[in-house]
Amino acid sequence: MQTNPFKFGSVVDAPFFINRKDELKAVTEVINSNNHLVIISPRRFGKTSLVYKVLKNSSRKAVVLNLQFSNSIEDFAAQYLKQIYRLFPVTHLKQKIKNFRVLPSLSLNPVNGDMEISFKPGSNQGPLLEDVLNLLEELSSSTKRSIVVLDEFQEIKRIDKSMDRKLRSILQNHKCVNYVFLGSQESMMRNIFERKNSPFYHFSQLMQLEKIKKEHFVAFISKNLQGFTSENKRIAKEIVAFTDGHPYYTQQLSFMIWNLLKQDQSIEKPIDEAIAVHLRMHDYDYERLWINLKNTEKKVISGLATNKKEPLTAAFLEATNINATSTVFSSLKRLMTNGFVIQTNGKYEIDDPFFKYWIIEKRSN
Ligand SMILES: Nc1ncnc2c1ncn2[C@@H]1O[C@H](COP(=O)(O)OP(=O)(O)OP(=O)(O)O)[C@@H](O)[C@H]1O
Ligand SMILES: [Mg+2]
Repeated sequence: MQTNPFKFGSVVDAPFFINRKDELKAVTEVINSNNHLVIISPRRFGKTSLVYKVLKNSSRKAVVLNLQFSNSIEDFAAQYLKQIYRLFPVTHLKQKIKNFRVLPSLSLNPVNGDMEISFKPGSNQGPLLEDVLNLLEELSSSTKRSIVVLDEFQEIKRIDKSMDRKLRSILQNHKCVNYVFLGSQESMMRNIFERKNSPFYHFSQLMQLEKIKKEHFVAFISKNLQGFTSENKRIAKEIVAFTDGHPYYTQQLSFMIWNLLKQDQSIEKPIDEAIAVHLRMHDYDYERLWINLKNTEKKVISGLATNKKEPLTAAFLEATNINATSTVFSSLKRLMTNGFVIQTNGKYEIDDPFFKYWIIEKRSN
């Protein structure tokens, strides 16, 4: 049975992975040098997929941690050490771990054969972190460099207020590890890496990941709709126009349209049908999102949905009936923090094209 060629929601690799050739090259170049890398983008643009792809193409050892799932420095260090255990033979590690200033508890999970590791809460965090992070540096060499990917890095401050300082003081001495930091809260990430008094100021090269180029998406979609309809190219263009090439939503809409066409190839306007189905299914969710917005946020987001004016202009104020640019600005900031609005190429836009369409529809009723 033919399976749906589109995928959304989790990390994508072949055959779902589209292009990103320039970005793959750029990331590979940095991690093959002596530098570190920060990748920033709004949510679900493909940061994790991109970096996983680079790791897959490389034979180097890599530790990958998502900071969202660490609750404390002890927890982070334990997860880190667990990954090291997966990469190196235990015999190599034993002697070195014996010298740790804070000893971990180790036990073998009889079900999956994994090493379970923990550090006692309230341990001496500085030395503990240092010993674990330095271990990977010691196990690596200039010809066998390792890679460390810290995903959702903006979470660092939640884990511990002093973690950025502690981490930076350790990482700056490493010569055989390349660090890659990923994050989706752009302002927090920029604060960490671009604010002069931040410990990570100018620690790494910064890369802003953009959407996937529209022509690459159109080619991928039309190829995968080919068997169904001779209108595949037109439909592909319409999909990408609706989603504006947002990686996640483009995959999602294509997925829905593929399913519709599989059931009935004579559907005249599969895109209208797919959007209508999605909005019917999520009407209640969108209504709840809408209800919880403040009044000026509603005005700003409606302004973004319905007219093409730049939000920080007098024309926008007039169109939305808001009295000051500063009010628009603070609303935009909140809408961005909460993921409703994103900024690409300096332009503000609504993240979810379906929500945008929902707003337009409701307002025209
Ligand atoms: N190169 C790509 N080709 C095709 N689809 C992609 C690509 N990159 C991302 N996507 C789409 O976007 C979705 C999200 O990708 P991914 O999880 O890698 O993004 P992310 O930026 O790490 O997201 P988050 O901010 O939520 O961690 C994927 O499930 C897929 O639908
Ligand atoms: Mg991710």
